[in-house]
Amino acid sequence: MAGNMQSIRKKLIQAFSESNGEFLSGQALAEIAGCSRTAIWKHIEELRKEGFKLEAVRKKGYRIIDTPDSVTENKIRLGLNTKTLGQVIHYEESVPSTQKIAHDLAGSGAVEGTLVIADEQTAGRGRLMREWHSSSGNGIWMSLIMKPHLPPQKAPQFTLITAVAVVQAIEDVTGLQPQIKWPNDILIDGKKVTGILTELQAESDKINSIIIGIGMNVNHSIDHFPDEIRQIATSLSIEKGTRISRSKLVQTVLEKMESLYSLYMKEGFIPIKLLWESYAVSIGKRIRARTINGTIEGTALGITEEGVLKIEDGEGTIHRIYSADIEV
Ligand code: BTN
Repeated sequence: MAGNMQSIRKKLIQAFSESNGEFLSGQALAEIAGCSRTAIWKHIEELRKEGFKLEAVRKKGYRIIDTPDSVTENKIRLGLNTKTLGQVIHYEESVPSTQKIAHDLAGSGAVEGTLVIADEQTAGRGRLMREWHSSSGNGIWMSLIMKPHLPPQKAPQFTLITAVAVVQAIEDVTGLQPQIKWPNDILIDGKKVTGILTELQAESDKINSIIIGIGMNVNHSIDHFPDEIRQIATSLSIEKGTRISRSKLVQTVLEKMESLYSLYMKEGFIPIKLLWESYAVSIGKRIRARTINGTIEGTALGITEEGVLKIEDGEGTIHRIYSADIEV
């Protein structure tokens, strides 16, 4: 029953997506969803409770005239233009970490493209075991499950694919021009708007799942951030000066990611590398990389096939950096 309810809801949202604000009659909706008109009415009421404004006019039917500012399953599905990414969505209002849920789902047969998204995280995780501030109502906290048939060494490339997808989505939706700081920070004017955390479930020779965690500061004002990150963090709305639709951004990230992923599977890493380098803040600049083995200063040359950063120091020695904090 729950599965059936789910699939009716999916079909309804799909029909409204395609109707572009035109009326759809109760009869047409019942036929599309394969259920009674009474069942349709119940689903419409559920959508209203979720904050969708549906106009109902006799002899014409229903149309959506406004949608809530949310990242619920229905809101993301309405207007989503992908084949696989985000076709299965697990939305929760508040969770410790979407990354943890995605790991569990990935280990128990979740399909490629499954998205876990929450309005709030109470124990969001960043790279290097850091905390990730994830307050309710203003950010995008999501984890995407990918299942490429590739060896585990290729996994870091997915961080770079994701960074390019996020930059392109921010550009499309807001007109802002973010930059990438190796390996996975997205910055605007030197301050962080998005972090990416790529984790792996793999055997020695093959990837089972890649769990890509994306945290985006969207509608935060500066007071939403804890004191200790106010100097280094920003949000899209602070930079743009207007509120931004979180669901539109999620949809655009998924769409960009889907097309970059298919480009990558067809043509390999080179086109992704070129895109990534075109958005990178550090390439050609002098940077300082703090690694666990010490600090290296020099000119950032670019990234390798494996997503490794190359830095040339004053003596002309080229260092390959696998993991570090970068200062530009
Ligand atoms: C970083 O820059 O350190 C990476 C931050 C990644 C945060 C995201 S938010 C969604 C997902 N769930 C988590 O707990 N972390 C990632």
